[in-house]
Amino acid sequence: MRPTVYITRRIPDEIIAKIVEQCDIRMWDETDIPVPRNVLEKEISSVEGLYCLLTETIDREILAKASRLKVISNMAVGYNNIDIKAAKEKGITVTNTPGVLTETTADLTFALLMATARRLIESSDCLRGGNWKTWSPMQLTGQDIYGATLGIIGMGRIGASLAKRAKGFDMNMLYYNRSQKPELEKELNMKYTDLDTLLRGSDFVCIMTPYTPQTRNLIGKREFSLMKKSSILINTARGGIVNENDLFQALRDGEIWAAGLDVFEQEPVCLDNPLLTLPNVVTLPHIGSASIKTRMKMAELAADNLLLAIKNQTPKHVVV
Ligand code: GLV
Repeated sequence: MRPTVYITRRIPDEIIAKIVEQCDIRMWDETDIPVPRNVLEKEISSVEGLYCLLTETIDREILAKASRLKVISNMAVGYNNIDIKAAKEKGITVTNTPGVLTETTADLTFALLMATARRLIESSDCLRGGNWKTWSPMQLTGQDIYGATLGIIGMGRIGASLAKRAKGFDMNMLYYNRSQKPELEKELNMKYTDLDTLLRGSDFVCIMTPYTPQTRNLIGKREFSLMKKSSILINTARGGIVNENDLFQALRDGEIWAAGLDVFEQEPVCLDNPLLTLPNVVTLPHIGSASIKTRMKMAELAADNLLLAIKNQTPKHVVV
């Protein structure tokens, strides 16, 4: 009997074709609307494989319905949307897509850092709004990137790739991570510090750590009070790592200078989120890995992981 797979969003045709060679599929055939929970609950009860995105919450309750499920293949590197413990208890393999998105996400993080520091969105809006009256000595002045100190919280693959880009801009680098990385440190000329030292000493603080119960609200009121008034916070990891209310207050009260955010506690972010009212915040709709090539590679890797696990072989990237 061919196994059955449920795919929670329309993915590229060539990836669907690859899965169909070995499995029967059902799919939530929409590009812009996540599968409703009641539909997913029903579908998960009768399939061997689930191909899902970070927009699906795969919690204990939904997994209780998954009586035949062998594998959950998440088309993302982050897997905070899945209850890993509950999956493990049920003997369900969970896979993700690290590696293929590293450089693209580091590119976006550096682009966001530059856009925030040099006020690119505000500047473009100024021009289009007819407010560019003349060249003016201090108009739309930002912060220098070259020679500044970058603090990286989380020195995994993407953190290291960000550091390589920063090296090219002659930035000084501090990093905070669970474990020290002596070789990387030497190669990139970075200094390992505790979190408070990093926050006090950095002109830019970039969050590059996974979202876990330990990193939830890692950056809040206390941490903003340690940061320089001229500093910039960049978050391309997960929204919940930063306390958004505290961030709003820190930006409004001038405790920090600006923020660049690709991720939010709730996504899509509500349009009445006060952060969207501030001129010193650059906001993006979670596009860290969104290049055509990288999204294709992620979709393909998620399919490879799924197909291997469904045949009881070891997938390329196993979470549990
Ligand atoms: C994107 O945020 C991912 O985790 O792949």
